[in-house]
Amino acid sequence: MNKVPVEIFESPEDAVAKLAAETAELIRENDAAERPTVLGLATGGTPIRYYQELIRLHNELDLSFANVITFNLDEYAGLPREHKESYWQFMHDNLFDHIDIKEENIHIPSGTVAEEDIPAHCEEYEQAIIDAGGIDQQILGIGRTGHIGFNEPGSPQDSLTRAIHLDSITREDAAPAFGGIENVPTSAITMGCGTILSARRLVLLAWGEAKASIVKEAVQGPISDQVSASFLQNHPNAVFYLDEAAASAL
Ligand code: GLP
Repeated sequence: MNKVPVEIFESPEDAVAKLAAETAELIRENDAAERPTVLGLATGGTPIRYYQELIRLHNELDLSFANVITFNLDEYAGLPREHKESYWQFMHDNLFDHIDIKEENIHIPSGTVAEEDIPAHCEEYEQAIIDAGGIDQQILGIGRTGHIGFNEPGSPQDSLTRAIHLDSITREDAAPAFGGIENVPTSAITMGCGTILSARRLVLLAWGEAKASIVKEAVQGPISDQVSASFLQNHPNAVFYLDEAAASAL
């Protein structure tokens, strides 16, 4: 019944241990071949444990990020980098400040580009991914609307990096962190579904019972722009890493 590969782990810790080991192997192989490693990264509560495991591998096993280039999925429109809820801040707090990545190798869409400059900014983002050689491994979470990045229902499969209006469910989910829904930005800049699907490997992470029903739709439901995570069914190298609770409806 599953239309995309699924691996179920006893705990999120087990899942991120496997994923971080895969990432480390990829980096070491590319380092040996003197190639950069291009990682696509995500925000939200879900990937935090993965980042903690990467930091541990950096500290304890000398895993170096000196030849790693990163591209984040998205950023809230209107938030300066120093805003505590910006994804720039999140990534620095949870990963970049603790590893040896070069600041110039970090790419996150800007939340403060003037509205008329957003299309050019998005085109530059796409071009930067191409110039880096494409994304080797893209990590994804899943929102309650089934979104990957911020590709809300209605996002076409071939969509590219662009500004998007946030669904009210997504803004509700973010409201506690922002101290009320009125403080949550109404739009964001996100990699498109097409951008994400062009990565060579996709790993979608989900933990907990609250994700079970949307995970089921993405894994077993029809491929539909109403659940952008269902597009992973069309990718030759995509996998869902779930804990038992997130897999409980499958
Ligand atoms: C936001 C992010 C997504 C993330 C989702 C789920 O919408 N833009 O990339 O997957 O939240 O977040 P969480 O992992 O906290 O459930």
